[in-house]
Amino acid sequence: MAQSWTPQSWQEKPVRQMPDYPDKAALDAVLGKLRTHPPLVFAGEARNLQAGLGQVAEGKAFLLQGGDCAESFAEFHPDNIRDTFRVLLQMAVVLTFAAGVPVVKVGRIAGQFAKPRSDDFETQAGVTLPSYRGDNINGGEFTSEARIPDPQRLMQATAQSAATLNLLRAFAQGGYADLHNVHRWMLGFIADSPAGEQYKGLAQRISETLEFMAACGITSDSVPQLRATDFYTSHEALLLPYEESLTRQVPRHWGWFNLSTHYPWIGMRTAAVDGAHAEYFRGIRNPIALKVGPSVTPDQLLRTIDLLNPEDEPGRLTFIHRMGATGIAEKLPPLLDAVRRDGRRVLWVCDPMHGNTESTSNGYKTRRFRNIRSEVEQSFELHAAAGTRLGGVHLELTGEDVTECLGGARELTESDLERAYLSTVDPRLNYEQALEIAMLIVRKQAQLATPASA
Ligand code: PEP
Ligand code: CO
Repeated sequence: MAQSWTPQSWQEKPVRQMPDYPDKAALDAVLGKLRTHPPLVFAGEARNLQAGLGQVAEGKAFLLQGGDCAESFAEFHPDNIRDTFRVLLQMAVVLTFAAGVPVVKVGRIAGQFAKPRSDDFETQAGVTLPSYRGDNINGGEFTSEARIPDPQRLMQATAQSAATLNLLRAFAQGGYADLHNVHRWMLGFIADSPAGEQYKGLAQRISETLEFMAACGITSDSVPQLRATDFYTSHEALLLPYEESLTRQVPRHWGWFNLSTHYPWIGMRTAAVDGAHAEYFRGIRNPIALKVGPSVTPDQLLRTIDLLNPEDEPGRLTFIHRMGATGIAEKLPPLLDAVRRDGRRVLWVCDPMHGNTESTSNGYKTRRFRNIRSEVEQSFELHAAAGTRLGGVHLELTGEDVTECLGGARELTESDLERAYLSTVDPRLNYEQALEIAMLIVRKQAQLATPASA
């Protein structure tokens, strides 16, 4: 562990989920270009986020992290970026207003391309090809040409990430996020839904509060926090050659930063403590996260903390547990107990999506809203019982009216899935289902704060 770290030292460790690029010279040429590409984020922003996450871990803020399972070249459109930003903003307003704490908002966006796969190959009608690994690596079409890893895709993904981030910065800082717009953020199709009604009621109360504050002289002009908001980016830092190429040193901050995103995470399939991903992550000074699945033992988790947060820095390390609604009650408490007993500082977050994926008889990958909801609710209860704190949620969602997850207030059924199933990878909560989750978090928090009325 005392071994010296460099941005390349991960190459000495066993690496999982790496695509096999047939043209190594072409890959090297692209990585060379990326090494001089302008950074997408600033080190100071990543440090600010870490301070915010430290507040989350202490219960003084809540973390909302969400976005696509995978961004794609085909879905790259300003409306999609705006809709994702807007649904996260609306969820954050619901959570802030009801819980009375600030919400740290993080998108799975502006770099969330590479996908780990359970299987290296995919077979369709007797033909076997390498698996699709995300638009920055190969193509999703089921042809042998499309499935060859193409390094040029890294340039396109980087350009798309930079353009996406540029628009997000404008939305966050340029006036769109002004709280006075809270009514205007409503999307048309939700106006007649139960979640929409609740949101409208809340927006009305916020407007009244703002009017009262204006009467007291507090306006967007005098208080910039009403006009603008902070919005951070995150992605699974899976493709280490790419991440390495954007790992830099900067003036005024010591150490190395991954400047492709504020808040990278290690996926469940690459989380081995002696693996290449953990090695890369231990040396960067961004706040970092790690997915924790049902097979992780307390001992592995403690070794992971030793490696990734040896100084016990607040906000440095997030564990995103993703156990599944049926497994969480058994799997999570031993992990919570071990970390609490050891007195280690981590931020716990629930991903209620990835342990609840199933296939329908008509061939769709889906998730049931009731399982997602159950995992969120159980998470709050299990943390309360263990004396730890659930600091936030990590969701796959979209601001669009897709039909990918079953259930929710509109009770989507299997026959609805074909209507608007757009995800190329995992099923996402649609706009309405996402708002429903925000409301149920508020209800659960209120219930736990006043157990007598539960
Ligand atoms: C994901 O977040 O899209 C993902 C693949 O998650 P996990 O690593 O938890 O399976
Ligand atoms: Co996913």
